[in-house]
Amino acid sequence: MEVITGFTVCLAALVLGLLATFSKRTKWIRVGRSPGPFGLNTKAAKKDFEQHGRALLREGYRKHKDKNFVVQSANKAVLIIAPKFLQEIRMLPETKLSHAQILMDYWVSEHIGGDLAMEGALHIDAVRGPLTRSLKSQVPIMQREYLRTSGFLFSQVPKDTNQINVHNFCYATVASITSTIFIGEDLAHGGGWDKIVMEYFPVAWGIRTVLKPWPRALRPIVKPFLLRDNQLEAILQKAESFLEEPIRRRREPDNQDVDILKFLSDYDSSPRKIALQIVGIITGALNTSTHALMQAIYHLCIHPEYIADIRAEASEALASEGGQWTYEVVKKLHLLDSFLKESLRLFAPEGMDITRMATSSITLSDGTHIPRGTSIAVAGEAMALDPAFYRDPETFDGRRFLKADGKPLSPEREFHGIEPGNAMWGAGRLTCPGRHYASALSKLIIANLVLKYDISFPEGQTEGPAGTPDDGNLVPDMAQAIVLTERA
Ligand code: HEM
Repeated sequence: MEVITGFTVCLAALVLGLLATFSKRTKWIRVGRSPGPFGLNTKAAKKDFEQHGRALLREGYRKHKDKNFVVQSANKAVLIIAPKFLQEIRMLPETKLSHAQILMDYWVSEHIGGDLAMEGALHIDAVRGPLTRSLKSQVPIMQREYLRTSGFLFSQVPKDTNQINVHNFCYATVASITSTIFIGEDLAHGGGWDKIVMEYFPVAWGIRTVLKPWPRALRPIVKPFLLRDNQLEAILQKAESFLEEPIRRRREPDNQDVDILKFLSDYDSSPRKIALQIVGIITGALNTSTHALMQAIYHLCIHPEYIADIRAEASEALASEGGQWTYEVVKKLHLLDSFLKESLRLFAPEGMDITRMATSSITLSDGTHIPRGTSIAVAGEAMALDPAFYRDPETFDGRRFLKADGKPLSPEREFHGIEPGNAMWGAGRLTCPGRHYASALSKLIIANLVLKYDISFPEGQTEGPAGTPDDGNLVPDMAQAIVLTERA
């Protein structure tokens, strides 16, 4: 009898608990297709978001201003948090909100080495600390590397069309500059390092695509069957043996290297872990920076009236530093800085920013209960188009972030800064640590390009390429070429 009573009490508690959770969940406003009862329509809802996610996020943001709402993304249900709650969540610790958990889940990280790379978060420290602090000494090296890579690319441009593929140009310059800054000039150019960097992302993405639809527990079982030709291990072994000796040298007491490899080698990590950290950060830096740069070049072709002024600013800044590329030159490029920020605001590669997983239950100030395990995000692109944050938000204004005297409106309104309404670098505790480097890199590449060339879309093209929507994100057009006209 006692057992039955105990059982009944437990059952009742369970049902009440479920009802409580359900009643809290049902308060969430839904935008887009619902997965339906028992998740029967999940597949259709995911597909819908994959194709129309960006529009759905904008719609939800406009309709439910100041409220949280839930969408079924192509990956999972995500609670979109209204901007007014950002202040409450931005600094919450890992024990409450985790970005790493989102990345691990999205990337099936344990199958592509992400779990080892992210353990201890040294990869973030390396970028936030040594990379940002050393920008002053790095800019001349970045310029040398730019000239080397762009010189080769420009020499390949066909004389009859003078056209260059924008993705190839941006990818190659960002990859060579970033590899050089991370592992040093000699290593970045020897022994096939560029191939390792180039191969990792498509192979990792391929693994992710194959394994993601499977439940986590089943992935190790299905993996050997689905990924018979798993090339990842070969790439990682190459990266590891490539870096083994340089890591050993950097661990010698009198070593003078100052690159990111040196910083990571100073910790007692295995060469495999360091290789994964380096390849992982370069891959992340490459995708984000390449896409932002491509879009900035497209915006320059759409608004060519800015080119002469950006060029004049760069000439003047260079002249003030004796014609040498220094960090001081980079810091003087205010118009280009504002132009890049405006380009990223209007392009916003990711529809959902500040993606986090609740590692414990949270209750927001309006009473919204966020159960442990919930994915949350902010509708970054929609927020960047909100007139509450930006005047005439749909209009491209390359001088939006400048005062009348051409100086930045404020430090937070510089390209690397984060003003209210801006989620492109994330927010709070986990803000992109690479944004100072990304800003310097982007300015150096664009200023150099327009100093040497006039740029335009091929004859007859009057509009910028649309890009491809993908799960709330926008991938810029990879096939677009521009015409380079060398300046006299
Ligand atoms: C225009 C270029 C870039 C954009 C738009 C960008 C954007 C972002 C965003 C939105 C986040 C997530 C922040 C959050 O959720 O609060 C992030 C994280 C990060 N970014 Fe960037 N980023 C860029 C370039 C770079 C570069 C060049 C580097 C390295 C040199 C870098 C390194 C990182 C790292 C290490 C993280 C942390 C990832 C983690 O949590 O494990 N980023 N970035």
